[in-house]
Amino acid sequence: MAKSAQLQESNLLKDIIAHAKEYGFVYPSSEIYDGLQAVYDYGPYGVELKNNLKRLWWESMTRLNDNIVGLDSAIFMHPTTWKASGHVDSFNDPMVDNKDSKKRYRADVLIEEKAAQYEQAGEVERAKELLAAMGKLLDAEDFAALRDLMINEGITCPLSGTANWTEIRQFNLMFSTQVGSVSEDSSTIYLRPETAQGIFVNFLNVQKTARMKVPFGIAQIGKAFRNEIVARQFIFRMREFEQMEMQYFVRPGTEMEWYSRWADTRVKWHKALGIPEEKIRRHDHDKLAHYANAALDIEYQFPFGFKEVEGIHSRTDFDLKAHQEYSKKKQQYFDPEVNQNYIPYVIETSIGADRLFLMTLCNAYTEEQTGEKSRVYLKFHPALAPVKAAILPLTKKDGLPEKAKAIFEDMKYDFNIIYEEAASIGKRYARQDLIGTPFCIAVDHQTLEDDTVTIRHRDSTEQERVAISDLHGRLSAACSYRTVFEKI
Ligand code: GAP
Repeated sequence: MAKSAQLQESNLLKDIIAHAKEYGFVYPSSEIYDGLQAVYDYGPYGVELKNNLKRLWWESMTRLNDNIVGLDSAIFMHPTTWKASGHVDSFNDPMVDNKDSKKRYRADVLIEEKAAQYEQAGEVERAKELLAAMGKLLDAEDFAALRDLMINEGITCPLSGTANWTEIRQFNLMFSTQVGSVSEDSSTIYLRPETAQGIFVNFLNVQKTARMKVPFGIAQIGKAFRNEIVARQFIFRMREFEQMEMQYFVRPGTEMEWYSRWADTRVKWHKALGIPEEKIRRHDHDKLAHYANAALDIEYQFPFGFKEVEGIHSRTDFDLKAHQEYSKKKQQYFDPEVNQNYIPYVIETSIGADRLFLMTLCNAYTEEQTGEKSRVYLKFHPALAPVKAAILPLTKKDGLPEKAKAIFEDMKYDFNIIYEEAASIGKRYARQDLIGTPFCIAVDHQTLEDDTVTIRHRDSTEQERVAISDLHGRLSAACSYRTVFEKI
């Protein structure tokens, strides 16, 4: 990519981060103490947007599919869970430091970035060869050769510009802590690095108590924690984040069919939320995780390039089998249709709520120039917008505030709306644009005569006259999740 395009993209990300902070979406955590790297807090509009995204995902899974049910398992789990899942032994990233800048990097990320440069320069084969070579060395855990590969490829530290690298070491990403009040009685437990294991260990509980028949799914939304070596790109890579995962339990031998069905459904879901075709793509994994026999990422074109938003993994029976082995408790299902006991195979859809939030924000952020005038607005799908409508009396007198407040009081039970009377109507429109409110409802003198208001549309800025009695129906039609669901 040309330098000027790169600069433009990094400026765009900076603008989005600044906008998110200034207008109450995302703040750095504990900012008064200079923040904590890779940890963020969601402000008043951010939490509304995130809740809408989570609710939409939850309902797409559990309401639209009568064979998917929900779960809310604990963050802390028995430590053996993580031994069985492979996280204690394999949840590692190769870490390397530059001796001159003292900056720490993930060796695989540096090599992937190099491959991306080759690809952008049209050297697709060279990029593939480099990734394949890296994959082999990572599998063989040959870190000395991996370091040589970095040096031979001329990979240097972006800060110092040198290739003065330390040895590459494996670094486990799980956070650990102690449970128990007395040190002799305490034992090490982990903050879960994925929500999926809470689903696996509850597989039989859910199957029996909700009387589920294979194929069926369990969906969960919850916090996950990873001690990421390199925390960059705002809320893209965090140390504390939220996952939305669904494990779909299927009959062995049918997993590839379900894998491709779920991949299609999930891509459609993103498009239904307004992500344009050209900004979303699938990326099949060359190197599979220890538990998968097929995997792909759904990637979005962020200002810093195409990156993973969601993973679709065919996890075989790896997890249930491992839990059966470690717990010595059978994790089998009796399938009456084939008259057989088996350990189901699993298709997983796994998306980070924060990454989905960032994608939604990047996709919505719009800078518009019309003649001399410029404006910034967030063109969220109305179903996702933090605030659905602002009720605005044209002036603070002549009974307009009372009339506007009556509309507000009537509609607040069904929609997240706000009432605002300070500043000129133009300024109030601009403020609503900045937080992505799709509709501004202005109450003027004509309202007092004929019970009509103007609706001003965020994206087109067009205005239309509407009867107050029609407002509820208009907002419902535009903001209902049904508008999204029908496209999936
Ligand atoms: N259970 C499978 C699993 O956890 P993953 O690809 O490691 O797979 C799934 O993570 C999703 O979780 C990713 O696609 C991403 O959206 C999100 N995610 C992973 N690590 C993250 C991090 N450090 N910060 C924010 N989101 C993250």
